[in-house]
Amino acid sequence: MNAVPTALVVVAHHRADSLTAHVGDVAAARLKEAGYEVDLLDLRAEGFDPRMTEADQPDWGDRDKAYSPEVRAHMARLLAADVIVPVFPVYWNGVPALLKGWIDRVWNYGTAYGRSRPRLAGKRMLWLGLAGAGDGDEFAAWMHETLDRVLREGVSFYCGITDAAVAVLHDAEGESQTVDAAGNFDQGAPLLGAARTAHYEALDRRAETRLEAFLGLGPAQTL
Ligand SMILES: Cc1cc2nc3c(=O)[nH]c(=O)nc-3n(C[C@H](O)[C@H](O)[C@H](O)COP(=O)(O)O)c2cc1C
Repeated sequence: MNAVPTALVVVAHHRADSLTAHVGDVAAARLKEAGYEVDLLDLRAEGFDPRMTEADQPDWGDRDKAYSPEVRAHMARLLAADVIVPVFPVYWNGVPALLKGWIDRVWNYGTAYGRSRPRLAGKRMLWLGLAGAGDGDEFAAWMHETLDRVLREGVSFYCGITDAAVAVLHDAEGESQTVDAAGNFDQGAPLLGAARTAHYEALDRRAETRLEAFLGLGPAQTL
């Protein structure tokens, strides 16, 4: 652990004005308030290309391969972090391509895995996903299980991060989307005015609460 703990908040969205980017800012502010030094990595703003390249493809015979300068810079940020918080919209029960590519290229052989003593061991990681589906959606539990298996176990645990969790903020669209057992998609009525404001304030609060619970932070100060 660094003397001043560092948090890497990874925002994975293609729009600067997205709810995802906003929740990333909320998470970063809460971490700062708790005393973390925050490295806010906005993959879109930094022009990260999620496509795998030859330079960044693992060489199974050389775990010390010199990857591209871009990826090495991202690896340094990953290694410097005590806490890693990717913030992303749930796409098809998984992560969007932008975040998938960051994992593919940066969580690479020799740095993230492939060492007898994992370099990422001891870090903590909260995957914070935003989902259009409401809590009552037929597939919500299945979505949680899938994300947990793939992200917490398949990525974090595989790379030596044992203290990891997945949190999903439902109803991100503001109108609750549900799919019933027969497969019918229902887009609820749009929220307007004060109800809409209250909905998004509650969503911010849910994001903060999940962070507080995961990191054992005290409740946020309220004015
Ligand atoms: C390509 C795509 C796939 C999506 N897949 C899912 C999904 O599998 N489950 C879900 O609950 N919502 C899904 N959604 C809804 C998004 O999670 C939701 O629009 C997003 O979290 C809203 O945040 P944003 O305003 O920052 O984009 C999907 C949306 C898109 C565009």
